[in-house]
Amino acid sequence: MHWSQIHGWFGWRDLQEEAVATFAEGSTFVEVGSYLGRSLCSLAEVVQQSGRRFTVVGVDYCRGSGREGTADKDSHAAAVADGGGTFAGQLHRNLIACGAADRVHLVVSPSPAAAALFADESLAWVHLDARHEYDSVLADIDGWLPKVAPGGWLSGDDYDEQWWPGVVGAVRERLPDAQECSTRQWRWVKPPAPPR
Ligand SMILES: C[S@@+](CC[C@H](N)C(=O)[O-])C[C@H]1O[C@@H](n2cnc3c(N)ncnc32)[C@H](O)[C@@H]1O
Repeated sequence: MHWSQIHGWFGWRDLQEEAVATFAEGSTFVEVGSYLGRSLCSLAEVVQQSGRRFTVVGVDYCRGSGREGTADKDSHAAAVADGGGTFAGQLHRNLIACGAADRVHLVVSPSPAAAALFADESLAWVHLDARHEYDSVLADIDGWLPKVAPGGWLSGDDYDEQWWPGVVGAVRERLPDAQECSTRQWRWVKPPAPPR
């Protein structure tokens, strides 16, 4: 299976390619909100094709985001129901089918609790694509921001005022210096550590 055959929502391949070209080998990338693995298996492919060594972690509690956004739509309900209340099995099967299961770490956990597993300033890149409502995005930013290393990126999907006002509102509230990039993505770069 190829990642492009996995159902999902993913449009930031260019950021994945920029990440492997930017960060030092041995760096860790975390994707928060993996759903069935479309973006995560793409990231695994980008890392493999780079020929460089990175740690890739996908975080999802595998129960869907519920109703969200301007459309008030629950886009993950069918996958949750198909799996009897969790799509963790389908996500893992897709990683195996893409040949990524031995190169990607899956953390089945609520996002802020997963953030607490990592040391402060230990992550080169955290990409947020979990629930898109204002309070959830704020909680994700607050949980993951301390984990990003100096010079690292905190970024996210669906920077779109019309369809995802909660994302735009939370990013503007917490990270007014964040920039729009790629296709409807936002990115904040943590200031580098001062020279010693
Ligand atoms: C938009 S989907 C991710 C799409 C995915 N990046 C792709 O490539 O298709 C959002 C995902 O975030 C997960 N999610 C929502 N809120 C979460 C939370 N608080 N903690 C962990 N996962 C969460 C949902 O289960 C869902 O799978």
